Amino acid sequence: MKSNINDGILITFLDFLKEGIIIVDDETKVIEFVNRFAKKFLKDENYEGKNFKEVIDNDYIYSLISYNQEKDVKAEVNIDNQKYLINVYRIEGKKIIHIQDITPFEVYKQAKKDFVSNVSHELKTPISVLKSAVETIEEEKDPVMIKKFVNIAKKRIEQMDHLINDLLILARLESQEDQVKKERYDLHKQIEEIFEDLKHLTEEKEIQLINQVPNKFDVYADEQKLSIALKNLIENAIKYNKQNGKVIVKAVKDSKYTTITVEDTGIGIPEESIPLIFERFYRVDKSRSRNIGGTGLGLSIVKHITEAHKGKVWVESKLGEGSKFFIKIPNT
Ligand SMILES: Nc1ncnc2c1ncn2[C@@H]1O[C@H](COP(=O)(O)OP(=O)(O)OP(=O)(O)O)[C@@H](O)[C@H]1O
Ligand SMILES: [Mg+2]
Repeated sequence: MKSNINDGILITFLDFLKEGIIIVDDETKVIEFVNRFAKKFLKDENYEGKNFKEVIDNDYIYSLISYNQEKDVKAEVNIDNQKYLINVYRIEGKKIIHIQDITPFEVYKQAKKDFVSNVSHELKTPISVLKSAVETIEEEKDPVMIKKFVNIAKKRIEQMDHLINDLLILARLESQEDQVKKERYDLHKQIEEIFEDLKHLTEEKEIQLINQVPNKFDVYADEQKLSIALKNLIENAIKYNKQNGKVIVKAVKDSKYTTITVEDTGIGIPEESIPLIFERFYRVDKSRSRNIGGTGLGLSIVKHITEAHKGKVWVESKLGEGSKFFIKIPNT
């Protein structure tokens, strides 16, 4: 069947592709076509009529084209910190070289591996403590010691419960079914409710919770999800605070955006950790966080929720003085 698509359309289309195409005549070795993406692998953009040996600027691609194979060839190669999948097909006396940048898949594969190993690690520690606590309880006669080990066991169960809950929230956020359902509601009231929920965490260090969101402040967001995000920020502001510290929540609105801030007078975040704290499982300096419960998933949940609202989250912090987290979301 003869196609009536003209060459111009086809060439424009091939130039749009985010994949490389190089066509070489198998007999004369002359390059016949190079699309826009593949031009980065050439020494000279004026390739027309030239032998590929003069023009190809990359040893891997050069050897794949030179390889006199009967069958199609497939290889994964690293070029300038990117990973490419290169397929060489032989079709009607031509060699067609198809180059795909597979770096994002590699990054994804690595992230998945890291995620599974992090989850296993985070579960392994409480499980082994739990196991030895139960064994001790089994042997122990002294009621005081029994109570002590029951408390240890309870704490570890809470830790695992917290991790599983966070993982479920993340999994739900990542699934397509769980979409953002925006509505208008009162942010001041929502902050009051979160403060009430987290009040028990403030007692030990006598942290003061201050709601400076104006009364009846209208916010347009998914009420449940924003509540999860704000709760995580406020919980952090309490957990990483000092004795008699303060947590202040504010909100302002312009014609396009609402910005909510959660500010604390706590320990602050070192500058080099700031780009990392929104990553899953990242916790600043495990030793300082060890005594403070948590798994390092909270801020990645916050980031997820903010981005699902087409918004942004960031932090300004001074070590030893405190941190201020910003959530900025569109009003419509
Ligand atoms: N307000 C804050 N002040 C100082 N450090 C903070 C603050 N918020 C977060 N951090 C640092 O960033 C790290 C990541 O925070 P995140 O909320 O993701 O995890 P977490 O609090 O350790 O555990 P989780 O929230 O999963 O219970 C924390 O471990 C802490 O070191
Ligand atoms: Mg947290």
